[in-house]
Amino acid sequence: MDKIVVDCQGSLSGKVEISGAKNAALPILMGCLLAETPVTLSNVPHLMDVTTTIQLLASMGVEVEFDERLNIELDASVVTSKEAPYELVTTMRASILVLGPLLGRFGEAKVSLPGGCAIGSRPVDIHIKGMQAMGADIQVEEGYILAKMNGRLQGADISMTPVTVTGTENLLMAAVLAEGTTTLRNAAREPEVTDLAEFLNKMGAKISGLGTSTLVIEGVESLKGVEYSVIPDRIEAGTYLAAAAVAKSKVTVTKVNPEHLGIVLEKFEEAGAEITCTEDTITLDMRDRDLKPVSLVTDPYPLFPTDMQAQFLVMNALADGVSTIQETIFENRFMHVSELARMGADISIEGNTATIRGVKSLKGAPVMATDLRASASLIIAGLVAEGQTVVNRVYHIDRGYELIEEKFHKIGAHIYRTN
Ligand code: UD1
Repeated sequence: MDKIVVDCQGSLSGKVEISGAKNAALPILMGCLLAETPVTLSNVPHLMDVTTTIQLLASMGVEVEFDERLNIELDASVVTSKEAPYELVTTMRASILVLGPLLGRFGEAKVSLPGGCAIGSRPVDIHIKGMQAMGADIQVEEGYILAKMNGRLQGADISMTPVTVTGTENLLMAAVLAEGTTTLRNAAREPEVTDLAEFLNKMGAKISGLGTSTLVIEGVESLKGVEYSVIPDRIEAGTYLAAAAVAKSKVTVTKVNPEHLGIVLEKFEEAGAEITCTEDTITLDMRDRDLKPVSLVTDPYPLFPTDMQAQFLVMNALADGVSTIQETIFENRFMHVSELARMGADISIEGNTATIRGVKSLKGAPVMATDLRASASLIIAGLVAEGQTVVNRVYHIDRGYELIEEKFHKIGAHIYRTN
């Protein structure tokens, strides 16, 4: 199994080009199932989860081709299977996102209950209840969700608690072809949800309220293929900026949308960094500055993202003082804490709150990646830990970070892959 080796490196400098957002690309790829003519997507990142999604779509009969610029053309005019099998869903929880489009367009779907990152129970009850409210008959049998609808789904008024990103996306994709109007209340406002809604609207859907917590969808009869470019990955950008902060360096991320990182950038400033933005770049300068502790609570967008929690935890582990991080989205999302403790971090956990007492330095150690963002945080810690850090189980990283070693090399990090 691959490992990533990280050697302690004084400082980083330079630019990192940010890829398309994984969490926008996945629902948009699944959304292609709704179109009766071919869709062409650009800025799709090359990641394990994208490959898994393409395999899943291909297994349903969608024709997938790549052009010379690595744009992806997906032709879902003929869909032969309406099933997402266990083998694929178990490697990627987001596979559940085929449920809405399949049920909406074909009136049937069979989708294995998802697995995915081991960060809590992560149920899909809101997805299921929403589709039932639209009239679908849904049974769970032998680990599979079996969904059926005679005729078109019916528009409904659906309120979702707690706020769920993929739940909102799944119901959005179910509703676009429904008969009548669907209102999704307490909808997730993440930029990736808005990107999906813009993609669907370009295909002919009638969704209003984009970027707000109430989405109103007027059902249409059919959707057509379009060309669409996926938004930049705000979490990937934030991860490289966190690395720069920890390494007390100056790094610029390019091809980003700074507006998507609002509160994250504020927290970097609170940590002592100087942040400068242009329309599509962000520069973080932490040279000759001390890391200050930053307390935070994870919450749905536009508040602080759970997907940046692990990276800020490493910053706090090296800051001068005490901080707390409260994780309100996922239980069990502190698995990186015990690994960081092996590197010398001083962190205690009570319930969903971590208390972090900053230490002067960390020490390299063999550590284990436990989920996608936790893995990134261990690499960041390794960049400044004395000696060598070996991050095991890096398949988690490949699910979400494109060309991570190459990108870190470009800014001067000593990091390589071995097995
Ligand atoms: C998405 C992101 C993930 C991010 C998370 C929160 C993708 C592919 N993944 O995950 O990177 O960390 O949003 O920003 O976009 N819940 C229920 N019932 C449901 C659905 C969710 O109770 O039916 C709960 C979950 O257990 C969790 C909370 O809602 O406590 C939020 O989860 P959700 O937003 O659904 O996360 P994902 O969409 O899986």
